[in-house]
Amino acid sequence: MHRFSLAGRTALVTGAARGLGRAFAVGLAEAGADLVLVDLPGAPGLAETEAAVHALGRRTHTYAQDLARTEELATLADRIRTDLDRTPDVLVNNAGTAALERFNTITPASWQQIMRVNVDAVFFLSQRIAEHMIADGVRGRIITVTSKNALVAEAGLAHYNASKAAAQLLTETLAVELAPHGITANTLAPGMVDTPIDGEFPFDREAFESAYRERIPLGRYADPDECVGALLLLASDAGAYLTGTRLVVDGGVLADQMPRTRFMPPYRSALPPGGAGSEDVRP
Ligand SMILES: NC(=O)c1ccc[n+]([C@@H]2O[C@H](COP(=O)([O-])OP(=O)(O)OC[C@H]3O[C@@H](n4cnc5c(N)ncnc54)[C@H](O)[C@@H]3O)[C@@H](O)[C@H]2O)c1
Repeated sequence: MHRFSLAGRTALVTGAARGLGRAFAVGLAEAGADLVLVDLPGAPGLAETEAAVHALGRRTHTYAQDLARTEELATLADRIRTDLDRTPDVLVNNAGTAALERFNTITPASWQQIMRVNVDAVFFLSQRIAEHMIADGVRGRIITVTSKNALVAEAGLAHYNASKAAAQLLTETLAVELAPHGITANTLAPGMVDTPIDGEFPFDREAFESAYRERIPLGRYADPDECVGALLLLASDAGAYLTGTRLVVDGGVLADQMPRTRFMPPYRSALPPGGAGSEDVRP
């Protein structure tokens, strides 16, 4: 497992106060990394993430920063480098925001907020940190958390879909430009993950979730923890030859454009009756 070890390295995770960001921070700490945690000023879960990382014996530096204030991100990266006395080895552009709005109700303010956080902040933070990695001779890793929505559209999310597609392409461009410096850049594209990101969506979450589960070959939303393995692959020596790639962690959604299994005869397992898998294995 030494290939997955991050002992002696430092990883920066944005949006670390909850959801995927917290799971990523804890997973990176389990692999041996110290953490730089970034989230909105006053983000309620940040102290909990810090405590979880400390419980694993790893150190944290925490920064309260609204990433939508893109003009401040170069200064933030400079501060982090000064405080740590080195550039983080791994940058996880995880923070993201979404709103569920029909195309004709999206306001310029809503469009801009989503673009600022999901695209502009990803680019300008990566830009400065990559410059530091080059200057410090760090063979770094940049991982941008996009979404399956970077690859396929979903109604009510025109701004979000567009932002994730942009984040994907900017990360792939960084991969090409940074390869000569030994720095990799990849995207991790989750499917549906059980986090509070859609907490303010004006919809019946329970009804949507049960309908959507039918579309997921694995039959359920992911727990945030189930995206950590993919992140560690991209962050560690195990992923040294991966760059400019998209790691989709979606329970099979994108592979199944026609949910036909629902209309096929049930598949019966050969396991003995009563044993796991002896029932119809479809969700
Ligand atoms: N949950 C899903 O189903 C899902 C699916 C695909 C992709 N994603 C992506 O995964 C990433 C994490 O999402 P999540 O589900 O954990 O969301 P979440 O809402 O639970 O967490 C997002 C975190 O980002 C922080 N954040 C938001 N705006 C910020 C800003 N302006 N400045 C600083 N921090 C800010 C929030 O405070 C929060 O802690 C996002 O990029 C999201 O688009 C999530």
